[in-house]
Amino acid sequence: MSSPSSSSSLDSVFDHSSSRSTTPSSVDSDLSSHKPFGRYPSTCIYAPSTIIEPDVVKSLFDTYAQEGCFGLCLPYAESPQRSSLFVNWKETLLLAGGGRAFKIFVSPPTSSLTQDGDDMSIPTFIIPQVAGHLAAFSLAGLRAVVSTPRIGGYIYYTLERPTFSFPPLSNTPGFSVMTTPSKGNIPTLDDWKTVWSAWDLITLQMIPHEMLHQKPIDLRHKCLFYIGHIPTFLDMLLHKSIGGGASEPKHFWNIFERGIDPHVDDPDHCHNHSEVPEKDEDWPTLDTIIAFRNRVRARLAQLYDDLQSGKRSLTRNIARTLVMTHEHEGFHIETLLYMLIQRAGTGTLPPPGFISPPWEILTRQWDATPALAVSTVVLGPATVSLGQEDSEGDDSLEGISKKVDDHVFGWDNESPERKYEVGAFRVDWRPVSNREFETFWKESGADKSRLPGSWVEEDGEIKVRTMYGPVSMEIAQHWPVLTSYDDLLAYAHSKGGRLPTEMELRLFLDTYEVGHEGGSNTGFRNWHPVPATTGLESNDGKGSNGGVWEWTSTLFDTHPGLSPTNLFTGYSTDFFDTKHHVVLGASYATIPRLASRRTVRNFYQHNYPYPWVGGRVVYDA
Ligand SMILES: [Fe+2]
Repeated sequence: MSSPSSSSSLDSVFDHSSSRSTTPSSVDSDLSSHKPFGRYPSTCIYAPSTIIEPDVVKSLFDTYAQEGCFGLCLPYAESPQRSSLFVNWKETLLLAGGGRAFKIFVSPPTSSLTQDGDDMSIPTFIIPQVAGHLAAFSLAGLRAVVSTPRIGGYIYYTLERPTFSFPPLSNTPGFSVMTTPSKGNIPTLDDWKTVWSAWDLITLQMIPHEMLHQKPIDLRHKCLFYIGHIPTFLDMLLHKSIGGGASEPKHFWNIFERGIDPHVDDPDHCHNHSEVPEKDEDWPTLDTIIAFRNRVRARLAQLYDDLQSGKRSLTRNIARTLVMTHEHEGFHIETLLYMLIQRAGTGTLPPPGFISPPWEILTRQWDATPALAVSTVVLGPATVSLGQEDSEGDDSLEGISKKVDDHVFGWDNESPERKYEVGAFRVDWRPVSNREFETFWKESGADKSRLPGSWVEEDGEIKVRTMYGPVSMEIAQHWPVLTSYDDLLAYAHSKGGRLPTEMELRLFLDTYEVGHEGGSNTGFRNWHPVPATTGLESNDGKGSNGGVWEWTSTLFDTHPGLSPTNLFTGYSTDFFDTKHHVVLGASYATIPRLASRRTVRNFYQHNYPYPWVGGRVVYDA
């Protein structure tokens, strides 16, 4: 190992121009303001960008993390300026697999990180390399709690190893019994384990025991129902696909088969759903439900074993069952969370194993987002393709029933592929923000009965709900507002516009949304929305919508060639009722396989105020 770092050794690693120097900006205390969270990393590593490989980052974390996190400083400029920050850092070699060695620098255990200042005028999402960094962190099972540009062309990350993280979809090949990885989307058992980590954390660690028999939203079941519903649904569909009957206790099928989907206008009018016990004491205990859950998970694992060993052949029907049950659980993760957020701060606990957001730093970064010179963009005319060829009705056909590899399965309402002509239209670069909606809401009479479900009034102040409890409008002002279709339509009309059709929104998202792999706020990168980043010249307008679904004016309805699912009877058709609208996109709590398949459609009632759906205004061109 070499002696403590000097400018020459830094130059050799980062290929600096030796004539450059950096004038440190004034010392500020932004990073030290982490300290109230008690998790500010005492060790920071300064490393070349070649280090961004999952194994290497993992090894850095294992070596240097203290109290669950460490700092990583990476260059983002081609020739970063020499920084005084690193003068006293200890140069060392990190040995990685394959005999490779990386020269890295380790900070002294002091507050030296604050000596160089941060350039808050450059929000990190403007730096293109960030998406690649985030993807590598995900692959290493790590998460960036905060990222801060630093003077001289470096970016600083606080990294933690959260309880779960979803790798980018391009690195999660589908299950296959062949030796080559499948391009299809059948989940592997590892994919299931990731979803189970998320589900178990939410259901068993964020719902206090006393809330199990409470309903965070009146229109839905009590929390305990959902803990039983997920394994019951899996058990029922496994039985439907491969037989074997019900797992014990068999009567769980009667209690937990189906949740409530009531009409918002008439809560007494519900679709078919399970009859549940009336009294709390008549419900199964949590322990009994967990034991049932474990039996069903073991049954699923056995199926994977049987498929792998050849004891059972993989058919389209089995594959579809695996995809459907997996994505069903993914959808429920999000729907349960939008219920639980209603009690965040008064019951629901924040996600354990995830460092709380450093709101003060984040707010400063978000406030530094450059305003858009032009708030809209014109798209179309264009031909827009919706959906994909994936009819469940074909699953049993001779010649198709065993063609599984590389096939991408979806829900019945995604198939078949269809094309539409879309005329020219003008569309807002970004969804309506909390602040914009607040201004409109106040101007239109501040009808308290129509307060968005994502807001709460505390002591006369409008706050925005998060899983960490309500936060001030100052923190959340730039985030997309989450509210009903009706509310956003009223907003759009006040601006002389309307909400987009499904085809128009699809065209916008296809053109400008970077998605999970492009660094967007989906797949639990954060547990809250962030400001949208679309519309900046620096990335040709591409960016993220901030991590929300978006409403469309298109009614959820049948279309030519739709083959209703028999595996999950009524999944779509029960909601072709002229009340449900198509929503597209993905929220921060949407799992990557749902967020990344462009044909996925979700649907909610137009006046349902709780789901994590925002909206953007379009104007006739
Ligand atoms: Fe369900």
